[in-house]
Amino acid sequence: MNMQQLLDENLKAGKLRTIVAKSQHQSKIIVDNKDYINLSSNDYLGLASNLNLAKEFLDSVSGPYIRQSSSGSPLLTGAHESYLEATEVMESLFNKSALFFTSGFAANSGLIGALATKENLIIADKLAHASIINGIKGAEGKCLRYAHNDYEHLQRLIEANHEKYDSIIIVTEAVFSMDGDKCDLNALVALKKRYDNVYIYVDEAHSFCLYNDNGAGFCASENKLSDIDFILTTFGKGLGSQGACLLSNKVAHDYFINTTRSLIFSTALSPFTFAHNAFMLKYMQKAQALRDRLYRISDFIHETLIECGYENVSSSQIIPFITGDNDKAIKAFAFFRDNGFYAMPIRHPTVPLGKARLRLSLTASLTDSEVEKLAKTIKAFRI
Ligand SMILES: Cc1ncc(COP(=O)(O)O)c(C=O)c1O
Repeated sequence: MNMQQLLDENLKAGKLRTIVAKSQHQSKIIVDNKDYINLSSNDYLGLASNLNLAKEFLDSVSGPYIRQSSSGSPLLTGAHESYLEATEVMESLFNKSALFFTSGFAANSGLIGALATKENLIIADKLAHASIINGIKGAEGKCLRYAHNDYEHLQRLIEANHEKYDSIIIVTEAVFSMDGDKCDLNALVALKKRYDNVYIYVDEAHSFCLYNDNGAGFCASENKLSDIDFILTTFGKGLGSQGACLLSNKVAHDYFINTTRSLIFSTALSPFTFAHNAFMLKYMQKAQALRDRLYRISDFIHETLIECGYENVSSSQIIPFITGDNDKAIKAFAFFRDNGFYAMPIRHPTVPLGKARLRLSLTASLTDSEVEKLAKTIKAFRI
């Protein structure tokens, strides 16, 4: 197929992807010169929109921290004073070794690629993010998928394979990016403990900053930090910054420095960005009031969905408003937009057939009246 054919086909099927500049501030987004209430942002605590915080940070940086480029891979010139500062904050938050990446995508694809050797088997949840799956592609090792959160299926796969491999690495998200449900860490850890060569990798992209009274995430709030071997945190969502960080033991940390291509062959985040990460990491630990607000408004929207008879699979701030078929998701998108909300439709094949939805992504910056208006809009929508 040539390029134009693919574009024409995507356009005809209503799934042509485009990039449109949008401006976001607090709970609002401006698209095509119109203001909407933003239900498409991953700025879950509203930290990226906090101008006082931005000013406080800018006033605090000077000297080498102001440098806008690290001008090399972390192995060359990419590590500096603010890199060490961010490392110290993450290591004391998790009591594990910290390793930074330019994004969650670069981290997952590189790390899973480095783990997926011929001697290891990766077993990933069926709904694992594209960056995880990307890591397997082109790697030497094999990957199996278990049905979403189906740990009996997972156990059958482990049982059939654990003697054939040096290690098995289970890969899951803490909060799933499309359904907003969570993995069951108690069940996963109990399963891991039955074998001596099974390890767990948890992607906290949508839970870091949001759980535990210091924001360390879901593994921390479930008291499982010492049982989870690899914890991937991303900084572009709840933290309101940029980059990603893997927490692991020191041996794994050193192994990744020596094997992970997206780390070795890529320019590190700038000293300025590391300084911002360190600043935001300190701030978010104290942001319990914002976490509490996010839980409250999320619970209110979950209850609204249930009250209206919609399926609610979510237990977090990511709330799929499941409409069923693709056309209904488009209809819901238009209805919500006409009511002043910007929430993106997610359609098959991104989600299973019959599970098309609007992905409602709540943030602590939504005002009470905006949340009430959202509940009214959900109630008023007719499929
Ligand atoms: C579960 C999950 N992991 C990783 C990523 C990638 O993170 P980043 O946006 O920092 O590249 C995403 C992005 O949405 C995600 O949803």
